[in-house]
Amino acid sequence: MTSSLSPSCKSSFSLFYKRNKEANHPTMFRLARPLLASIAEYRPVYLDSQATACLDPRVLDKMLPLMTEQYGNPHSRTHVYGWNAEEAVEKSRAQVAKLINANPKEVFFTSGATESNNIAIKGVANFNKAKKNHLITLQTEHKCVLDSCRYLEMEGFEVTYLPVQKNGMVDLTLLESSIKPNTCLVSVMFAHNEIGVIQPLRDIGAICRKKKVFFHTDAAQGLGKVPIDVEKDNIDLMSMSSHKIYGPKGCGALYVRRRPRVRLRSPISGGGQERGIRSGTVAAPLVVGMGAACDVALREMDRDRAHCLALRTRLLEGLEKRLPHIVVNGDLENRLPGNLNVSFSCVEGESLMMGLKNIAVSSGSACTSASLEPSYVLRALGIDAENAHTSIRFGISRFTTQKEVDYTIEECSKVVERLRDMSPLWDLMQEGKTLADVQWR
Ligand SMILES: Cc1ncc(COP(=O)(O)O)c(C=O)c1O
Repeated sequence: MTSSLSPSCKSSFSLFYKRNKEANHPTMFRLARPLLASIAEYRPVYLDSQATACLDPRVLDKMLPLMTEQYGNPHSRTHVYGWNAEEAVEKSRAQVAKLINANPKEVFFTSGATESNNIAIKGVANFNKAKKNHLITLQTEHKCVLDSCRYLEMEGFEVTYLPVQKNGMVDLTLLESSIKPNTCLVSVMFAHNEIGVIQPLRDIGAICRKKKVFFHTDAAQGLGKVPIDVEKDNIDLMSMSSHKIYGPKGCGALYVRRRPRVRLRSPISGGGQERGIRSGTVAAPLVVGMGAACDVALREMDRDRAHCLALRTRLLEGLEKRLPHIVVNGDLENRLPGNLNVSFSCVEGESLMMGLKNIAVSSGSACTSASLEPSYVLRALGIDAENAHTSIRFGISRFTTQKEVDYTIEECSKVVERLRDMSPLWDLMQEGKTLADVQWR
């Protein structure tokens, strides 16, 4: 396949590169460069990388030819447009497979992790329905996993939603003892979208293999950030998302083990593309973007991890130095390097976010951020509703700079101090009292 850019693409790219030439990333031009000149003068600092990450320009580079000149349908067998698109898709499949140590034949492209989770959970459950109709998952899983399970419950399946420990980690003894002779699937997330906690996949995989139960993991957040190996970790099915790893939105993949073979009945009917697992025309430009994003992630994982961890440590230490009574939610050791979820006592998370006009953060999952309910994830860690309302999730990415983190520490400290000054609860806390000590008339 040729990957030459059309003259119009070339000129827009040279302009783009010129504008971003102050890059301090070792190999690439940075999208957020204007922030160096004056933070927040152009746009807010982006610290919401668990919601989504910006597209890596190297990924966009690989995608553009498939949107401009190589626009064939990868399933067209009768001309060079189709053949070229198919070749590009297969190259991407191999790139995704390499990142997780799988065979490319075990990788199926989807529209994202939501779809992959639906296909994996409903597909395995429905295929095994006659003999095994019990599934196990965690109370802290992503909505799309929980909702797939709830759907199955309405269809007559039995689902166990396991509680987690205070630090968000699975209780392995409880997990093992919850597996029954009719359990067909255990689904446990790799790295958590809200609290960043990384589950012990290898131990879970070993338990599932021993008990002859399929093991599915939602790896939307962990993929490309922390090493994962479907062989060593005994993973049978794995959901992946492109836009969390600096690839395009609207694309994902599902890993399905071939040996021992996992069989599933896909909930999607259609033309039988992706060997019947996900019917529908494969979105070649997006898939090529996902492959390129996996390729970059594999090559730069060590650099990315060290970068994100250093900035997260700086952020936490900076906040702790300025502000008393802050609590990190979720285990700090077993955690995504780029995730920090913090509760600021006596400060309502929503008010804090409103105050942080020049910093894009969230109080939790993007999928549930429209709801004013406290996070069900924090509640599952045993955090009371009041404190669950005081949390903010900071998501640090490959592109976050030290300057942005320092700006965030400064702004966040100022806003928290201001809100605490206005808070009667904070006054009580300073006197060593709580709401329970107040005499209501
Ligand atoms: C853990 C987890 N699973 C699934 C999803 C859904 O991914 P997608 O947007 O690719 O459907 C997300 C995204 O927020 C996520 O964080």
